Amino acid sequence: MTERPPLTELPPYWLRDNCPCAECRDPRNGQKLFQIDDLPAGLAIAASTELDGRLEVLWSDGHRSRYPLAWLDEAEEGDGRTEQGKRLWAAAEFARGIPEADWEAYLTDPAEQAAVLAAVRRSGFAVLRGVPAVEGQVLRVAESFGYVRVTNYGELFDVRVEPDPNNLAFTDKAIAPHTDNPYRDPVPTLQLLHCLENSATGGDSGLVDGFKAAAILRDEAPEDFATLTRTPVPFVFRDRRTELRADRPLIDVDPLGRIREVRFNNRSIGTLRAGAEDLTAFYAAYRRFAAITLRPELQLTFRLGPGDCLVFDNTRLLHARTAFQQDGRRHLQGCYADLDSLASTLAVLHRRTAALDELAELFAGEGAGEYLGEPVTMAEHMLQAAAAAEAAGAPDHLVAAALLHDLGHFHGALHGRDLMQGQDNRHSHTGADRLAAWFGPEVTEPVRLHVAAKRYLCAVEPGYRARLSEASEYTLTVQGGPMGAEEAAAFAQLPGAVDAVAVRRWDEQAKEPGLETPDFEHYRPLLASLMR
Ligand code: OGA
Ligand code: ZN
Ligand code: ZN
Repeated sequence: MTERPPLTELPPYWLRDNCPCAECRDPRNGQKLFQIDDLPAGLAIAASTELDGRLEVLWSDGHRSRYPLAWLDEAEEGDGRTEQGKRLWAAAEFARGIPEADWEAYLTDPAEQAAVLAAVRRSGFAVLRGVPAVEGQVLRVAESFGYVRVTNYGELFDVRVEPDPNNLAFTDKAIAPHTDNPYRDPVPTLQLLHCLENSATGGDSGLVDGFKAAAILRDEAPEDFATLTRTPVPFVFRDRRTELRADRPLIDVDPLGRIREVRFNNRSIGTLRAGAEDLTAFYAAYRRFAAITLRPELQLTFRLGPGDCLVFDNTRLLHARTAFQQDGRRHLQGCYADLDSLASTLAVLHRRTAALDELAELFAGEGAGEYLGEPVTMAEHMLQAAAAAEAAGAPDHLVAAALLHDLGHFHGALHGRDLMQGQDNRHSHTGADRLAAWFGPEVTEPVRLHVAAKRYLCAVEPGYRARLSEASEYTLTVQGGPMGAEEAAAFAQLPGAVDAVAVRRWDEQAKEPGLETPDFEHYRPLLASLMR
């Protein structure tokens, strides 16, 4: 956390540009509703106060803004594309194993998926094991976190020996460490290689951290590093149907000088044209950089077997393979994708995890409190309702609704106790509204209607009211008593009515002291799969 400057020193245009009010930002999407030049000249803070964790500002043009102090103190984390925050590696760092996961676990467990995607961000790669070794499956892997980037090679490309190869990749020769498609701008930022067969002698895979190699060059020969960051290199590819060219430096740094992209592919460097001195300097730097990428300590080697899918950052890692004999078959399928959607998928997974952690904390914390004087805590009550739903074979969204139906008792000034003091806390509505941040109507509406469902059941089902617990009978009166005939008929027409009635019946059963149930964690995967 950086020390915040005194409020009077906050740059006014910066602060105003970040005003979160509904006039400045559309509350539905957070997007700004003004242009930067709409702000008046000479804008200044007329007055400011700190109150309840917020900074309140009155502006010289009369506008008022309120900023959470926590927002002022947030650290800059960056977009994750530069060397900042990454783990630059040498091969020895994976002596105990490379980042890998089982495909089934990756598909079913959000935590496993997050770990794989985070490894690609941090270390530049991960291997998925057990991806069915069938053609086209590599596309499913790309689609599991993002979008396939189609190129002149098609949606996917086969890496195997071809009779008339338009690329060295389609022969049995060794391929030195390189990045793919440097002749494209934008370059595909991710590559996937899925092994279908690898029974040939040789044909092992290699990876080198190009950021690490560039960082070593920067340490050992800063002038050479600088030369490579500022020399646009013509990368070219041509075959009968294609002619591609992109002029980009071998090492691209961001405006702050941090390494951001490496392009390295000797096969596709065209003719660089510049003055003799510049050419001499470039080739000296290029050769030095190339030699670093070939240092044995930087070479990570492993073998892909059928069902392995390597996912890697093509703006950072150099990939390679050894030559192979044609004594067996070697067949990989590859495709390209991009880091932006991988990062987005990971961020959304983290957001969901944070929401589930918050729910878990509510169950463990406030949920341990008493539940309207019933012989169970609120958490026990909700866990029992969920267990009853599960035992009844209810669909996932109803198990979730049963589990979360009383969340509205958990927060705010109007706690459950108020309900027992003759005040309706409208907990079914506050709970549903809160859940709407994470779940769709199939979960929120049964929660919203679970109180109405009690009033409905008491009206239409003989004997239902007599079975209510003492507390529930009391709250029934606070909540308006049984429905009249007209209200009950209207309720029955509501979209979530049948589901709400089902949840209500489990709710009624869920007040048994000492009953053993699964805990909150048992429901995490189910909840994660329902989150939007
Ligand atoms: C490629 C490539 C590696 C391999 O197709 O771009 O580098 O293992 N292939 O065959
Ligand atoms: Zn390649
Ligand atoms: Zn309730």
